[in-house]
Amino acid sequence: MSIRALPQKYDVTAAVAEIDRQPDVWNRYRDRLDRYGSPHTHVDDIWVRFNAIENMEKDKIAFFQGEHESVWYPVADQLPAVRALVETVYSDVGGSKLGGVLITRIPPGSSVSPHIDTGWHAGHYEKFAVQLKGNAQQAFCFQDARLSSLPGDLYTFDNSKLHWVTNDSDEDRMTLIICIKGASPMLKPSEVIPFDLYFASLMSMQAHPGAGTKEHRRLTMQECSDMAVEMVMIRRRTIEGN
Ligand SMILES: [Fe+2]
Repeated sequence: MSIRALPQKYDVTAAVAEIDRQPDVWNRYRDRLDRYGSPHTHVDDIWVRFNAIENMEKDKIAFFQGEHESVWYPVADQLPAVRALVETVYSDVGGSKLGGVLITRIPPGSSVSPHIDTGWHAGHYEKFAVQLKGNAQQAFCFQDARLSSLPGDLYTFDNSKLHWVTNDSDEDRMTLIICIKGASPMLKPSEVIPFDLYFASLMSMQAHPGAGTKEHRRLTMQECSDMAVEMVMIRRRTIEGN
């Protein structure tokens, strides 16, 4: 699946408030937006963390496409609630290395046109996002799926596949994108055995004589794993009573 909602929900009130009261944090680096033919022409953004900005002057292509370590940009000091939210998500998904952090804003009626993200950074990190603003009339779209996430929702996506974003609503769509290496499924230690049971059960069904028929499509190992995680999350919500 190219995009998948995750069970975590976050209170984004403080992060949104500190962004909204500091309009100068937007669009300090316009290269991504203004490049000829850019799919992001109608988007505003805040670079919170990426390749050190002094590397852009040395070699612009290497700056965007080459291997590098990410660093916090000065704007991160103006956005402590955003930085705290990033660190919470990083911890929740069990990351082992934090890459770039980008906030994007798509105004009402605008969109990001279809594209694939390339380069070392795009390929090296997994992509997570927390929705900061948006409603059901906006969507992050892939050819096999689309997601209209609401403020506080966490999701993960694969930007090596063709994707585009629409905002047909009457309010801004604002998203915090966090690039993380080595994230593991968000299982608590007590959930590893239930996961193994669900996963083994789902995998054994694929060897059943009825598997692969029209009524019972054969699932891939990744689909079995994704479904087992979903079942663990249902189990967790049931135990926690919500
Ligand atoms: Fe993209």
